[in-house]
Amino acid sequence: MATIDAYAVLGNPIGHSKSPEIHTLFAKQTAQALVYTADLVALDGFQQYVKQFQADGGCGLNITVPFKQEAWAVVDQRNDLAELAGAVNTIMFKNGQLLGFNTDGLGLVKDLIENCHIPLAEQRVLLLGAGGATRGVVLPLFQAGVKSMTIANRTAQKAEALATLFSEYGDVNGVGLDAICGSFDVVINATAAGLNRDVPQIDPTFVKNALCYDMMYGDKPTAFVEWANSHGATRAFDGLGMLVEQAAGAFLIWRGVGAKTEE
Ligand code: ATR
Repeated sequence: MATIDAYAVLGNPIGHSKSPEIHTLFAKQTAQALVYTADLVALDGFQQYVKQFQADGGCGLNITVPFKQEAWAVVDQRNDLAELAGAVNTIMFKNGQLLGFNTDGLGLVKDLIENCHIPLAEQRVLLLGAGGATRGVVLPLFQAGVKSMTIANRTAQKAEALATLFSEYGDVNGVGLDAICGSFDVVINATAAGLNRDVPQIDPTFVKNALCYDMMYGDKPTAFVEWANSHGATRAFDGLGMLVEQAAGAFLIWRGVGAKTEE
């Protein structure tokens, strides 16, 4: 019996996910036959769900909060970016194996450069937060030519630990939010503060005349975008473009064809 290639995004919560819409548009655009669903997975049920999806003949998965680290642990192989990010957002089932990838960082870089026209080469970047979201983007930012990076986090030790982890890839230092010094061309918010419509408590002069980017997105401007605009940011963008670009990265891995993301 012929069945259609099945993909899904797994998360908890998952109701807000735009991924089914994005992948369905990519499939239409590239004339690929597939189905893509958003599946709510119990917090203790991730591994079981993945096994069942594979047993049912599924082709691939996207992974979102809070399962990216668990996905990293569960796959049989990881590419370099996933390995270093400590998180997997894309799984491909191939010959009975689970292959793990992380397309978040390249998605961010592509959105910054191509859609937001924020140059990264030789730029000084302030990266706010030191969780999984931050960890996934540091290496791609350096690979895009960033000159220096300050990772600043509410819990300073976590920023310091990430700076040590990535020190071989570029000029990076880690500090608490109240100990940031220097000036920055690009300020990226990778904290989860926006979930409560909050912003990381930093001196607003750091966003003045800087290009600002919030990795979160929503139906209305995010708290960080509003805050940055009200404190003199040159421009401020939300993370919808990153979502679309990381999805295109996954689509390319699974289907071998690129999607046109501007649409
Ligand atoms: P994610 O995978 O989204 O990065 P995470 O690993 O839980 O999620 O990390 C959340 C990040 O947002 C952390 O850097 C956290 O700071 P702490 O390490 O001090 O907890 C940061 N964060 C969450 N709420 C914040 C807030 N209100 N202000 C500033 N930083 C916040």
